[in-house]
Amino acid sequence: MTYVLRHSDHETRRLETQAAFYAEHTEWLLKTAGITAGMHVLDVGCGAGDVTIQLARIVGPTGSVVGVDADANVLEAARQRVDLANVTFRQATLPDVPLDHPVDAVVGRMILMHLPDPVTALRALSTVVRPGGVVTFQDMNTTRFRSVPALPLLTKCVTTLNDSLLAAGRALDTGERLHSLFLEAGLPGPELAVVAPTPHGEEKEAAVVMLGQTLLTALPFAEECGVVAPGEFDQDTLTDQLLDELRSTPCAVYLAEMVGAWTRVPGTEPAFARST
Ligand SMILES: C[S@@+](CC[C@H](N)C(=O)[O-])C[C@H]1O[C@@H](n2cnc3c(N)ncnc32)[C@H](O)[C@@H]1O
Repeated sequence: MTYVLRHSDHETRRLETQAAFYAEHTEWLLKTAGITAGMHVLDVGCGAGDVTIQLARIVGPTGSVVGVDADANVLEAARQRVDLANVTFRQATLPDVPLDHPVDAVVGRMILMHLPDPVTALRALSTVVRPGGVVTFQDMNTTRFRSVPALPLLTKCVTTLNDSLLAAGRALDTGERLHSLFLEAGLPGPELAVVAPTPHGEEKEAAVVMLGQTLLTALPFAEECGVVAPGEFDQDTLTDQLLDELRSTPCAVYLAEMVGAWTRVPGTEPAFARST
């Protein structure tokens, strides 16, 4: 598996910061898509468990959430953060789905963009959702992270990240391709909603720090595959350089657009007929 953003404690903290920027939209999406109390839900590519926590609150004590990730270390971090009776975590690499019984919903945020074949994964995942159950995913259009006016170092970080994703064979526009991906996977055309956080003040600085952390996480892969020369970014000072640049030029910062897509698996069956 080629995953550009390899796990580290640093990466877990970055995922938490990133999750905070998109949490409100995710909450709205999960509820609008039809996740309700008592449901049994699969959260794929759960990472450090940020979406898992939101799901656990929505489904409540009569429901359950299984968080699945390929990375044993990030799962360990998730287990340490999320100590809830209705949550379990399992290690599996998509498109393998570690369930032998149906769930009421499958959810994934920023996971399809990291898969070499998102359609096969979506198709496999939709087979574990009961008829009438919910399929909802969120993904980014990564080129849309930008400042206006364009700051040179910020722009270079975004370009390097996007070139790394391309070098790993990933698409940069998975968010806006979600509608097509659902159709190709045999699902009904999903409803869609998009958000592009535009942080202000301290949050703008936090967004730029997060960009620097993302770049540092991707740097080993970027150097290995020749996207950047070793030493092109100064790892020790990158975050400070980004902050200096931001503070010296008044600008607007737009985070990557996040597209949410949701639909239901065709057919009807009483809800909660099976449990996880
Ligand atoms: C960007 S993180 C998103 C984490 C979480 N969904 C969130 O929104 O905070 C992507 C996660 O997908 C996991 N991942 C990547 N490829 C995977 C695969 N083939 N199967 C399962 N998990 C995978 C990574 O280990 C990582 O934890």
